[in-house]
Amino acid sequence: MIVQEGDLVLLYFSEDRHYIVKVTRGSTYSFNEGVIRAEDLLGRHYGEVLRTHIGVKFRVVRPSLLDVVYRKFERRTQVIYPKDAALIALKAGVGPGSRIVEAGTGSGCLTAVLAYLVRPSGVVYTYEVRREFIEVARRNLRMLGLEEYVVFKEADVREGIEEQNIDAVVLDLAEPWAVLHHAYKALRNGGVLACFLPTINQVERTVEEARRTGFIMVEAEELLERRYKVRRGETRPELRMVGHTGYLVFARKP
Ligand SMILES: C[S@@+](CC[C@H](N)C(=O)[O-])C[C@H]1O[C@@H](n2cnc3c(N)ncnc32)[C@H](O)[C@@H]1O
Repeated sequence: MIVQEGDLVLLYFSEDRHYIVKVTRGSTYSFNEGVIRAEDLLGRHYGEVLRTHIGVKFRVVRPSLLDVVYRKFERRTQVIYPKDAALIALKAGVGPGSRIVEAGTGSGCLTAVLAYLVRPSGVVYTYEVRREFIEVARRNLRMLGLEEYVVFKEADVREGIEEQNIDAVVLDLAEPWAVLHHAYKALRNGGVLACFLPTINQVERTVEEARRTGFIMVEAEELLERRYKVRRGETRPELRMVGHTGYLVFARKP
């Protein structure tokens, strides 16, 4: 596999120094480790070791979805972290062909994860009230070639969800309880509601409203992720961790 015009490439110098660049003919990329030209990368094999103009070695790596979403996307809002996005996707049963409604779009991090999973025949309808965020999310999704699996809707989801027979509704906004009756209507039987909520009082209100609306199997949970520093005889958790992202509420339409 060789580097081609338009590719996103991860330039790996060391475990804590790597950068993602878009390879565009004529471009140069400057780092503390030296300068690299797009022409140095084009046509090279992924995995190859190259050198910057001052001789510092780096490896040409194909970035993963998460590398791009969490290290290259422009962020204009709080975003959903990979640990939460992963559970949302799995519990909501998101896969090829799924039809998902999401609100709000924000920076599009979760949208990208969902769009990646619904390919090639599914679609993500994403509602966002602020046009400037739609533009940011659209640019971000385009970077990964995922824009074609997303329908961006500039609308207040509290006013209604137009789609029907939807497999999952995913809500990341301040007042999900105001949307649950629309979500219930839009979902197919057995469809999943997933809500991301930064505070515990939002959880209580959302769960109560979900039960009142007729959802079943209503669950609230939180995921804690701890990374490890691994060295023989000295392996231990990293000293710093992300202490809190948010809570998750899941429910199903019977
Ligand atoms: C925390 S951000 C979403 C971040 C997104 N999940 C991500 O991973 O990038 C919440 C977004 O919801 C939007 N929003 C809030 N209320 C909304 C509503 N009623 N309808 C549509 N969008 C709404 C906000 O403008 C904001 O962009």
